[in-house]
Amino acid sequence: MRVYKQIPNELETGLEAEDVAPSQSDTFERHESGVRSYCRTFPMLIDRAQGSYVYDVDGKRYLDFLCGASSLNYGHNPPELKRALVDYIAQDGVVNALDFHTRAKERFLREFHRVILKPRELDYRVQFCGPTGANAIEAALKLAKKYTGRKSVVSFSNSYHGMSAGAMSVSSSFRRRNEEYLSPAWVNFLPFDGFTGQENEIEFIRAMLTRPGSGYGVPAAFILELVQGEGGVNVASKPWVQALYRLSRELNALFIVDDIQAGCGRTGRFFSFEHFEVVPDIVCMSKSISGYGFPMSILLLNPTIDVWAPGEHNGTFRGFAYSFVTATEALLQYWDRPDFARALGEKSLLLARSLEQLRARYPDAVERINQLGLVCGIKFRSAEAAQRVQRHCFENGLIVESCGPDSATLKLLPPLTAGMDELEGGLRTLLAAMETA
Ligand SMILES: Cc1ncc(COP(=O)(O)O)c(C=O)c1O
Repeated sequence: MRVYKQIPNELETGLEAEDVAPSQSDTFERHESGVRSYCRTFPMLIDRAQGSYVYDVDGKRYLDFLCGASSLNYGHNPPELKRALVDYIAQDGVVNALDFHTRAKERFLREFHRVILKPRELDYRVQFCGPTGANAIEAALKLAKKYTGRKSVVSFSNSYHGMSAGAMSVSSSFRRRNEEYLSPAWVNFLPFDGFTGQENEIEFIRAMLTRPGSGYGVPAAFILELVQGEGGVNVASKPWVQALYRLSRELNALFIVDDIQAGCGRTGRFFSFEHFEVVPDIVCMSKSISGYGFPMSILLLNPTIDVWAPGEHNGTFRGFAYSFVTATEALLQYWDRPDFARALGEKSLLLARSLEQLRARYPDAVERINQLGLVCGIKFRSAEAAQRVQRHCFENGLIVESCGPDSATLKLLPPLTAGMDELEGGLRTLLAAMETA
């Protein structure tokens, strides 16, 4: 295997950059900011990608169980979506249109309503945000404060909502939090399900938000991931979510679900909240909503809280039409066909069975498995063990990410479109890595 590695600069080696083979060059070390991160864990030079696989410049194939942090739920370059995009480009379809009306956006809105919202009896308006998840979070927080006239929001332990100042302020996830940039005065963190290990966590939350003298006020909103992604694949229980939802109704506070990572089928249903039988006031979506890895981010709003004035949350790239074209095609190719959702159930069962076997086989290494659908967390007893397994997986052609406050959880995010054989192949590589590590 030829590994792309960061070599010392030319002063130390006596080599000009051009003397070095492309995949061995220090271009990134020399020219890209030190802020880069994934490329440090996965030292490779990617050439192309198709389906469940990415290929490096030497032709080595990697099974991708990271999927662009769940922004590629339908795998890489799905052919039907590519065809729709190429057709649109060939017709000189407009590329970016701010929030002008375009046929690409009209079609997306119509099909999203027909394929996703109507069958689930959901009545939401769609707000197009600047194209990152963090921007949807910023919009949701602004709107909640405007609608309720209240200043504070409640967020939860081990949450992650993005890196812009507002989104980071509601993120407690320790690895990501940088206190210097935050304005946390308006955020109250409370325990996510299971965080304290106490039975009456919701009663604690209720007391903090309602009893005089707690120091907390009644919040504008609760914002939460129902399956915490970066925080360690923590799956909330249905009773906890329903009790929190009831509390939000009692307090007239908005219930905002961040479905940026857990949405678009990742949990086995289109929305994560379908498992919990609650209807959020605001849903934040991004990552896989475009279907093709293109930037796109939306809010779904209960129409009664859509109190924005025109232009109050503007942004140049809210109208990137290529995203709308592939997003629409993903709805038609996958969600308009009952077979697709059925297969997700079978795939998540396969993962559950195999991971349970893995846990039973390595009880000294693996503390527990957290899973909902096709997002699975293997919580190791030590971060070192998790990282050793991750490294072995990578060397043997499987890309998996680590997460959690102490990086001790390996998170599997396989493509929803992966075949059973590909899932089994990935699990075999994982098992072999466990054995070696
Ligand atoms: C749950 C959740 N919310 C928000 C975000 C932020 O999205 P973005 O990185 O596109 O700003 C992420 C990104 O990983 C996420 O996982």
